[in-house]
Amino acid sequence: MAERPDKHDPATVGSATWAVHGGNAVDPTSGAIRTPLTMANSYQLPEDPTSMNWSTTEGLVYTRNGGVNQQGLEKKLAAMEGGTAAAAFATGVAALHGVFFTLLKSGDHLVVSDVTYEATWRLFAELLPQRYGIEATFVDVGDLDAVRAAVRPNTRIVHVETIANPTTKVADIRGIAAIAHEAGALLTVDSTFTPPPLFRPLDHGADLVIHSLTKYINGHGDAMGGAVIGDAATIGRIRHDAVVDVGGVISPFNAWMIMRGSVTLPLRLAQHQSSAQKVADFLASDPRIGFVAYPGLPSHPQHELATRQFDGRGYGGMLAFALDGDPDTQNRFVAQLGVITSAVSLGHDESLIVHVGSEGRGGSDRYPEAFRTYGHLRLSVGLEDAEDLIADLAGALDRTEITGGTKR
Ligand SMILES: Cc1ncc(COP(=O)(O)O)c(C=O)c1O
Repeated sequence: MAERPDKHDPATVGSATWAVHGGNAVDPTSGAIRTPLTMANSYQLPEDPTSMNWSTTEGLVYTRNGGVNQQGLEKKLAAMEGGTAAAAFATGVAALHGVFFTLLKSGDHLVVSDVTYEATWRLFAELLPQRYGIEATFVDVGDLDAVRAAVRPNTRIVHVETIANPTTKVADIRGIAAIAHEAGALLTVDSTFTPPPLFRPLDHGADLVIHSLTKYINGHGDAMGGAVIGDAATIGRIRHDAVVDVGGVISPFNAWMIMRGSVTLPLRLAQHQSSAQKVADFLASDPRIGFVAYPGLPSHPQHELATRQFDGRGYGGMLAFALDGDPDTQNRFVAQLGVITSAVSLGHDESLIVHVGSEGRGGSDRYPEAFRTYGHLRLSVGLEDAEDLIADLAGALDRTEITGGTKR
């Protein structure tokens, strides 16, 4: 006879079952079947607390060290990514900073992808070198020889984004992990654009995974959070230094919101991806479009790598494109959209578009030539009907006066 399944054991259930049940517990006092929101900053101490470490992250003492809702979320995220522990932060950048603040010291060196989220780039190009003497070399991670050549004896970390914001460049996680480990360095991966079940970097050799929970994992555009996932010893250090001692903790409310949003992650992701492919195919077929970058298009420079690495599970929901016109044309086009909203952020239920501009801040040569020629639009494909999104884009194209351009 088959054993009774345990929905609280990630080893015995699938990713959709874990997305529903992971980290959730029946409330022992009320019997509520979803973990209630606990808005308390302190928990009752034992009768004699004199020998207690008040900064402990074991158990429940003070919400900066950990709370019921944070701990539930961390348990869920750790198993989702195939790690043994997770630390939740107030935002994605707090999580990124928490990793580098904890694991690096003055004189250390990193190798970093030349395309990353803007604030990540500023951390490595400005804050860490200027304040702490931590130097980064930026490389094209599409070129493994360049990654190998950038490594130095004092390289402690190689940092990449699985699919990079904003250009959609795809990093070969297994290949880069081998180079980092050969050099005695860790590979840290920001996988915000590729949440599970699409991809799990730890299964491919990464040491730590970082997420902006603000994006796909919450998925509803109404909460902020970040997380780092990996082995228990490293996460324990990060939690101690960056959460307890520096205070980058997530609020119980945001942790509760993100737990709720993450329940539908596998379903939402499937829809984001299917619509993104349709939108990318539509844009690629229109002669008024200057370029489209989506890893699911055969024209994407890392299409083969993405197909192999993501193993048929999709290519994400993010794409970059531009009309064959000057930067003003891109702005006029965005102003004509009726369903897609012009706003920063991504991975929300609603489709969001942002004109990133032709200058990659801090050095335009970080972006491919097509991006620099036209400026470009970053599109986060949401959960609306794909037909509505395509009709919105087509209508806005018809209504936009296109000036400049090189193709026609
Ligand atoms: C890839 C990536 N990492 C990190 C972040 C930062 O996340 P947060 O805004 O939650 O701090 C973002 C935000 O857009 C992002 O796109």
